[in-house]
Amino acid sequence: MFVAIPKMNPPIEGVKARLVPYAPYHVEQYHKWMSQPHLLEQTASDQLNLEEEYANQISWTQSNDKYTWIVICKLDHRHRPKLGHRTSDEIQLNEISHMCGDVNLFMHEWLSPDQCEIEIMIAESSCQRNGLAVESCKLVMEFAKSFLNIKSFIAKIKQDNIASIKLFTEKLHFRIVEIIECFNEIECHSSECLCDQCQSTIT
Ligand SMILES: CC(C)(COP(=O)(O)OP(=O)(O)OC[C@H]1O[C@@H](n2cnc3c(N)ncnc32)[C@H](O)[C@@H]1OP(=O)(O)O)[C@@H](O)C(=O)NCCC(=O)NCCS
Ligand SMILES: [Zn+2]
Ligand SMILES: [Zn+2]
Repeated sequence: MFVAIPKMNPPIEGVKARLVPYAPYHVEQYHKWMSQPHLLEQTASDQLNLEEEYANQISWTQSNDKYTWIVICKLDHRHRPKLGHRTSDEIQLNEISHMCGDVNLFMHEWLSPDQCEIEIMIAESSCQRNGLAVESCKLVMEFAKSFLNIKSFIAKIKQDNIASIKLFTEKLHFRIVEIIECFNEIECHSSECLCDQCQSTIT
């Protein structure tokens, strides 16, 4: 008999951020972020309705090709009030009020099995520029190397997203390997990458 092995998508504790697996009680706030045109544009996402967002949460959780964590801000500054949410569980309410973004790993058929794509969003403007994106990316990259046999990472970034380009190239030491004009995107690979494109750009 075939028994499906559940995907390992554990919480990860950092200094500034706690990464928790995407759960149904996160969806409402996630949906609010993903209704903002600038975040849809920068993350190359489509606008979904709340029902579709709940369906996505289930499919992302079940997919073996995608790992999604919600970034919980541990910094001691003002966050959203705990009121106005559908749960009365104190731990969940606290988490919802400190949610600031998400970080994802994607396995793709078009990548080698030891490579994956990484995506980050720190949606809450009050939490931005505090090192949360750098720490969250480093945490999931360590996780992927330790538990998923991943050796290198790629990131696709909109050409005009200067913040994200600087994050990946200056802070995480990715190199730009390709400019994909038709999608207005650039593709960056992490410094350990040994693909042909990276080999030819190393001087
Ligand atoms: C890009 C983004 C993830 C950065 O998150 P963050 O938590 O603010 O980033 P960090 O504090 O870890 O910043 C790391 C570095 O990124 C660069 N950076 C971040 N925000 C920047 C900005 N507004 N302008 C210029 N550089 C910026 C800087 O080099 C920064 O280092 P520094 O603060 O020492 O100068 C966040 O702004 C975001 O999610 N934006 C919207 C969605 C998005 O663009 N996602 C990426 C899709 S590829
Ligand atoms: Zn915060
Ligand atoms: Zn490469």
